[in-house]
Amino acid sequence: MKTLVIVAHPDLKQSRVNLHWKQALEQRTDFKVKNLAELYPDYQFDVAREQADLIECERLILQFPLFWYSSPAILKKWIDDVFTPGFAYARGGDKLMGKELMLSISVGAPEDGYRAFGFNNFTLDELLRPFQQTANYVKARLVAPFIFYQSVFASQEEIEQSVEAMLAHVTNECEPPSIVYEKLLLAAEEMQVALIS
Ligand SMILES: Cc1cc2nc3c(=O)[nH]c(=O)nc-3n(C[C@H](O)[C@H](O)[C@H](O)COP(=O)(O)O)c2cc1C
Repeated sequence: MKTLVIVAHPDLKQSRVNLHWKQALEQRTDFKVKNLAELYPDYQFDVAREQADLIECERLILQFPLFWYSSPAILKKWIDDVFTPGFAYARGGDKLMGKELMLSISVGAPEDGYRAFGFNNFTLDELLRPFQQTANYVKARLVAPFIFYQSVFASQEEIEQSVEAMLAHVTNECEPPSIVYEKLLLAAEEMQVALIS
């Protein structure tokens, strides 16, 4: 499977986790790894180049540290700029259809705070709704994310273990979408038809 990894960390020089993950992924010949902040320090993306790489891939992995319960701004802008009408949605916008989309996220806080009435009130699954619906909207197949909690407290040994776990996850065949997910896809399709017509 041709896999494209978009690493969206604003400053990998300050990173402990995402830098290790990126370096491990770069060892693999079947992965294309792009560090957005290095390629585009001014956040002005080469949209045609990015879209060409997306067309090439079968699985897209968005790798980032959780910042304010979402992705760093560079990834938000990359999606805003690259997922254009006619490419990702609207008339002719079927270029991401059927591709797998996976999130690979380092989360600073512990997992037990991410729940109702916990320190962070919501599960990560709930907080990631915009990514889930973006995948639905462009008809990509969202697959299970890789999440590494407690990243800010992780020892060097735990970070090394996270590299192994991350590699095992991102190289795995993923389960087919659930019935619920297929229903969501259908609803998204109907909505797009309604928008186009
Ligand atoms: C601006 C900023 C916002 C952050 N927001 C969150 C957050 O909302 N939830 C959380 O658990 N950790 C948060 N963190 C911690 C990061 O997720 C953590 O530093 C990162 O996963 C570590 O990865 P790295 O070593 O690759 O930088 C935040 C960190 C920064 C710098």
